[in-house]
Amino acid sequence: MASILLHLTSSLLLVFVASAGNFYRDVDITWGNDRAKIVGNGQALKLSLDKASGSGFQSKSEYLFAKIDMQIKLVPGNSAGTVTTYYLSSQGPTHDEIDFEFLGNLSGDPYTLHTNVFTQGKGNREQQFHLWFDPTKDFHTYSILWNPQHVIFLVDGIPIRDFKNQERIGVPFPNNQAMRVYSSLWDAEDWATRGGLVKTDWTKAPFIASYQNFIADTCNWSSGTSSCSSSNKAWFRQELDSISLKRLRWVQKNYMIYNYCTDYKRFPGGVPPECRT
Ligand SMILES: *[C@@H]1O[C@H](CO)[C@@H](O)[C@H](O)[C@H]1NC(C)=O
Ligand SMILES: *[C@@H]1O[C@H](CO)[C@@H](O)[C@H](O)[C@H]1NC(C)=O
Repeated sequence: MASILLHLTSSLLLVFVASAGNFYRDVDITWGNDRAKIVGNGQALKLSLDKASGSGFQSKSEYLFAKIDMQIKLVPGNSAGTVTTYYLSSQGPTHDEIDFEFLGNLSGDPYTLHTNVFTQGKGNREQQFHLWFDPTKDFHTYSILWNPQHVIFLVDGIPIRDFKNQERIGVPFPNNQAMRVYSSLWDAEDWATRGGLVKTDWTKAPFIASYQNFIADTCNWSSGTSSCSSSNKAWFRQELDSISLKRLRWVQKNYMIYNYCTDYKRFPGGVPPECRT
């Protein structure tokens, strides 16, 4: 009995360790030299930005459909002009891309969370939000749930955006190009904060964003997507239930500050087709 229990606990522990995320195992630092640092035993990663350069990393693996979680603590204090990106992208001129970008601000002024979805090389699907918490005080979980029918953006498990598969009305959906996770911290003082009116305060450099608990639950796409549909991965078929829909509407009503779907001036000939359904 005791040995069975011991066996059980040790295998549970293994599962936990295996899914806890290890930046040494899961990502490559691609930019910024020692401005990007994996710390501890690989549980944490820090990106920094100074006047000379920003920094960035990418996942070692590519994914075709996945549920990706990342916990991020954004640059605190006066972060005006800085941009922290966290996105999925494939390569080439007809690439797909699913973007989270965090635009910094003056101390006390809210960050802007900018989102976009590119399919077959075409984006122009921006939605922007303010957050209902201070994203610089603690780590918060930013997730992308990407399955054959939905791209759902979530913040602390609360859906903020649902890009649906609408191929039936001719809108391309990301479903045939594998994507990698990318993240970077860089300076965009020419446009990031209030359209470039507020510049970066370099006396506050280096600016630092912190990461932990990167977890990619994914399909083995080298053996075909059937490996996912035949598995018991709930996210592969997930869509928003009534409670999640209520939350999405709460965020969109109270925290959305820009939606391309209602920018009638930008699209005088009519908003894109996916906005009309
Ligand atoms: C910065 O704060 C101002 C004032 O509250 C706000 O209008 C703006 O959306 C915020 N974000 C950025 C990126 O400028
Ligand atoms: C993924 O599928 C390929 C091809 O079927 C197989 O060789 C490989 O071992 C699988 N990898 C995992 C992690 O299951």
